[in-house]
Amino acid sequence: MEDKLTEKIVLRNIKKSFGTGDRTVHALQGVNLSIKEGEMVAVMGKSGSGKSTLLNVLGCLVQADEGEYLFEGSLINGMRQKQLSAFRSRKIGFILQYYALLDDRTVFQNVALPLQYGRKNKDDIAARVEGLLRQLEIYDKRNNHPYELSGGQCQRTAIARALANNPDVILADEPTGSLDSRTEATIMEMFQQMNRAGKTIIIVTHDKSVSDYCNRVVVIKDGLVQ
Ligand SMILES: Nc1ncnc2c1ncn2[C@@H]1O[C@H](COP(=O)(O)OP(=O)(O)O)[C@@H](O)[C@H]1O
Ligand SMILES: [Mg+2]
Repeated sequence: MEDKLTEKIVLRNIKKSFGTGDRTVHALQGVNLSIKEGEMVAVMGKSGSGKSTLLNVLGCLVQADEGEYLFEGSLINGMRQKQLSAFRSRKIGFILQYYALLDDRTVFQNVALPLQYGRKNKDDIAARVEGLLRQLEIYDKRNNHPYELSGGQCQRTAIARALANNPDVILADEPTGSLDSRTEATIMEMFQQMNRAGKTIIIVTHDKSVSDYCNRVVVIKDGLVQ
């Protein structure tokens, strides 16, 4: 048995398929994985190996067909939708592939978005957002729209948004996939800083230059952790 006090996340025999009949794709075929608080983990594997599906299960965007997902010792799968949304917004910051920013909102509004579901007042939200924008060095772009930004600036906005609710765990899907190597280094140093500040970080990548920043590499092949 794992020590539940140190294991932040435990997956046991997680399975997920898409489609039916002949078209069924077995994206995850029985994943077992434990992640400790404060780890910075790279999930690596070929395209189609199940990396994004695994991250989406961890971020509760996709529900596993089988298996157990424990977060701080509590069973996550089987939670009701409302409980699940509350858990997700409190505990998990998700950085989706290609940023997934809203183009009709400013940088400030994008980062403020996750805060508006809580009960915070407007001044508290503004203070929090401005702090994050300064931390991520994107404050001067606060009134710009995503289409006016560089890739690196979009990624910093997406990271600020993921940090808005001060989550314990940060999940990022190919966060530097479309960035040049200098911007990649800046972004990865930001992840390291967040990790040193206590965040547990899980990054999907197929780049060794990215996994080199992490303190553990998990390899996934054909829907199984190797
Ligand atoms: N929503 C979906 N519907 C159908 N098939 C999917 C879906 N999401 C992923 N898949 C399939 O599951 C497999 C694993 O995909 P994915 O987790 O995205 O891999 P990776 O991120 O490693 O490239 C692939 O064969 C992919 O086509
Ligand atoms: Mg993927």
